[in-house]
Amino acid sequence: MDTDDYWDEEGLGVGGCEACPELVESRSRIVDGVGPADADLLFVGEAPGATEDERGEPFVGRSGDVLDEGLRAVGLARRDVRITNCVRCRPPDNRDPKTAERENCRGYLEREILAVDPELVITLGKVPAEHLLERSVAVTSEAGRIHELSIGERTQRLLVCVHPAATLYDPSQRETFNSALDAAAEYAGDGGQSTLGEF
Ligand code: URA
Repeated sequence: MDTDDYWDEEGLGVGGCEACPELVESRSRIVDGVGPADADLLFVGEAPGATEDERGEPFVGRSGDVLDEGLRAVGLARRDVRITNCVRCRPPDNRDPKTAERENCRGYLEREILAVDPELVITLGKVPAEHLLERSVAVTSEAGRIHELSIGERTQRLLVCVHPAATLYDPSQRETFNSALDAAAEYAGDGGQSTLGEF
């Protein structure tokens, strides 16, 4: 995939990409990341759902409400952070994005990470964690841990977090979710100097 054809470096967005036929069919629009282009924290989800596809913004459905609430609980507002997804088009019937679709979109995500240059990338759920770390991830047990990720020549710190939707299906995940957000806020507040340390 040559991302140059569709990537708008200034707007950190994708215009008119048609790399994934099933997603082109199922999407109403491309849902780009939102939030400050120089945010300290960059959250990465899986793919837009129905509400995101309708409104053109990541995490604005029920999962988004949980994320907003979790951010508020650690003293952050949605406008303080950047939020994006592994793939920018809604998969049909809310299925997980296929590997090939994630790979088609990888270049856009990496370009967004490099441009924003956040203190920390926070993956929400299994799909983005495994996509970026390129290995299997046990999200609940790894939540709150910081890892290192190479993107080109850049070393990026990444924190694993459970998906906000998981807290709706299983309220016992709420504490894991909140403490991962707490760790992220503390890390950013310390300018990346947190003693959390594990990566
Ligand atoms: N909304 C998104 O934008 N991404 C997800 O992963 C889930 C809901």
